[in-house]
Amino acid sequence: MKYRRFGRTAWQVSEVGYGMWGMAGWKDSNDQESMEALQRAVDLGCNFFDTAWAYGDGKSEKMLGALVRANPSKRLYTATKVPPKNLRWPSRREYTLDDCFPPDHIEKYVESSLKNAGLDSFDLMQLHVWEDQWLKDDRWCRTLDGLRRRGLVRAIGISVNRWESWNGVETVRSGLVDAVQVIYNIFDQTAEDELFPTCRERDVAVIARVPFDEGSLTGHLTLQSRWPEGDWRATYFVPGNLKATVERVERLKPVVPAGLTLPEMALRFILGHPAVSTIIPGMRKARHVEMNVAASHAGPLPASLLAELHRHRWDRTPTDWSQ
Ligand SMILES: NC(=O)c1ccc[n+]([C@@H]2O[C@H](COP(=O)([O-])OP(=O)(O)OC[C@H]3O[C@@H](n4cnc5c(N)ncnc54)[C@H](OP(=O)(O)O)[C@@H]3O)[C@@H](O)[C@H]2O)c1
Repeated sequence: MKYRRFGRTAWQVSEVGYGMWGMAGWKDSNDQESMEALQRAVDLGCNFFDTAWAYGDGKSEKMLGALVRANPSKRLYTATKVPPKNLRWPSRREYTLDDCFPPDHIEKYVESSLKNAGLDSFDLMQLHVWEDQWLKDDRWCRTLDGLRRRGLVRAIGISVNRWESWNGVETVRSGLVDAVQVIYNIFDQTAEDELFPTCRERDVAVIARVPFDEGSLTGHLTLQSRWPEGDWRATYFVPGNLKATVERVERLKPVVPAGLTLPEMALRFILGHPAVSTIIPGMRKARHVEMNVAASHAGPLPASLLAELHRHRWDRTPTDWSQ
């Protein structure tokens, strides 16, 4: 595993980190299999884990706490997120700071997350939706700073809404946050336009999330793919999105060079950007962990392939199903 500097915190984090949503929030998860996958990741050098209160109402945070306790000799970096008070994803322009992150709500959920995980502190506390206009009202950041002074959190971050990488640039520029979490993959490349250059300028860490476009960039989706009732993916891959996505993936498949797989190419595309501190693929199976960690060993893709993949950029705007 290779390690990268996590912005101004100067932590050395594994460039392949770990996304912990699916194991607690998606319907077809198996806890024992997920815990085995988490431990395999630690054994292979993964040291950055992203969870959230909202992933199973604390279930994923509990699993992270158990992992930390099972590995007392390892420095594992823990990142979680405060849910918006109105429990709406994504936030919208008309939501106020009081709708989403009033100070008492932030404090209550940081305490709740610590209790779920059984930890004394989290390394990174992120706000789970974001509006740049909230920058005008600094109560969110004074509250998080207060929690940092109490030793309950070490660094502060925002997680920007799907397909709104622009909606965090001013906050990064303000210097008030240590990290930003954003979707970045072969399809979603908009973070390259403004967000990544600003992060580099301000030395803000980048957590690249959803590296496989919720699974499509693994190459396993078909027009017949279906998910269990109540699984978030069933509401995301609505027929129109599934069709458009599968068509895009089919156009991408011939580009995969001999000796590479689509998932490996997807991760190595992301690792090719110098602004990225860590990637957090969602993984519930040890074999996926092993495949994904191998992408770090292999390093970035050749420049000619990167250039070709940039032509597969797919700019999308939020819709009612794109939460
Ligand atoms: N608003 C936010 O802040 C927000 C929103 C979404 C996600 N996130 C974070 O980002 C993380 C990653 O996103 P995600 O989990 O939604 O989607 P993702 O990483 O794009 O895709 C996850 C899917 O890819 C599969 N997979 C992983 N490695 C694979 C491989 N080598 N070969 C084939 N399939 C593979 C996983 O299967 P298995 O699970 O079966 O192993 C899972 O079905 C989340 O876990 C969460 O931590 C944050």
